[in-house]
Amino acid sequence: MRSADRPRLGFIGAGVVGTVLSAALAGAGYPVAAVYSRNASRRDAAARGAQAQAVRTTQGVADLADVVFLTVPDDAIAAVAGGIRWSAGKSVVHCNGAASLDLLAGPRSQEAAVGAFHPLQSFATEEQARRNLPGSAIAIDASTDELLAHLEAIAVALGGHPLTLHGDRAVYHLSAAIASNYLVTLLDLAAGLWCELGLSKEEGLRALLPLVRGTVENLDRVGLPAALTGPIARGDVGTIERHLAVLDRVAPEARTMYKELARRTIPIALAKGRIDATTARRLAASLGDGQGDDDACG
Ligand SMILES: NC(=O)c1ccc[n+]([C@@H]2O[C@H](COP(=O)([O-])OP(=O)(O)OC[C@H]3O[C@@H](n4cnc5c(N)ncnc54)[C@H](OP(=O)(O)O)[C@@H]3O)[C@@H](O)[C@H]2O)c1
Repeated sequence: MRSADRPRLGFIGAGVVGTVLSAALAGAGYPVAAVYSRNASRRDAAARGAQAQAVRTTQGVADLADVVFLTVPDDAIAAVAGGIRWSAGKSVVHCNGAASLDLLAGPRSQEAAVGAFHPLQSFATEEQARRNLPGSAIAIDASTDELLAHLEAIAVALGGHPLTLHGDRAVYHLSAAIASNYLVTLLDLAAGLWCELGLSKEEGLRALLPLVRGTVENLDRVGLPAALTGPIARGDVGTIERHLAVLDRVAPEARTMYKELARRTIPIALAKGRIDATTARRLAASLGDGQGDDDACG
């Protein structure tokens, strides 16, 4: 049954985010009034999962819902919002992590409330997203206090932690991309090296994952800089030189990236207190120049 203070929700775009959020919120007791997606089978499946009406136009969602989530690709948000007639009393929310409310200037000029709702989680598949979402931070923003309160309650209903950002959301999204997307890129590179060892990339990934999980666990338990281990944390210059020599042979295209990451690791090792300034200089010299930049937070 619909609770009086819970708005009727609508979703435009039944991709992984739209499908997972609509079903999870329906499961948490939110009335999901309507779902639209251009692809009929995705639209019908998402509508079934959220016990919602599958509608054939984006306008149909805006007509039936109080709060409309635009769960379409980032580059389609402004155009999709621009194709709908909005009015006072309606709210429209994008899920783009890098963009501000300016992206919804069109609906705002028609007196709709506008918001942003970005789960800080990787929605690789629907099943994984459902599993990973509880406990995630969710960056929210809104043009009105009423919508902000709704988005806060929606984030909590998903098991998330609502997060208010001050400053450029693109900085927040840059941070997320470095931590998540480029971790995948690093693992692709790291696992690929196992082909040099007579094993497959898949076998390499399987062997590396417990190490990655252990590292993440260490970050969770002891934080930065204590979680750092390895040759730079110990000041083992000879091991770094061995890495550089083998990189030339097996992955010369990754040499610049390796050296940049290694340079940025030296101040972390110094902050941990395992190496002194002399060792830091020797490590930097082995990488071909001075130390990496300081931590942006001081
Ligand atoms: N994936 C993540 O990890 C993640 C995490 C947090 C936030 N987000 C944000 O969530 C939003 C949706 O991302 P997603 O990963 O769910 O994307 P997605 O899986 O690509 O789904 C987007 C859906 O929008 C529809 N669509 C595509 N182009 C469209 C257009 N021009 N007009 C109307 N509908 C269109 C497509 O369905 P039809 O073809 O059926 O229309 C598509 O399934 C994005 O703003 C993204 O930044 C994503």
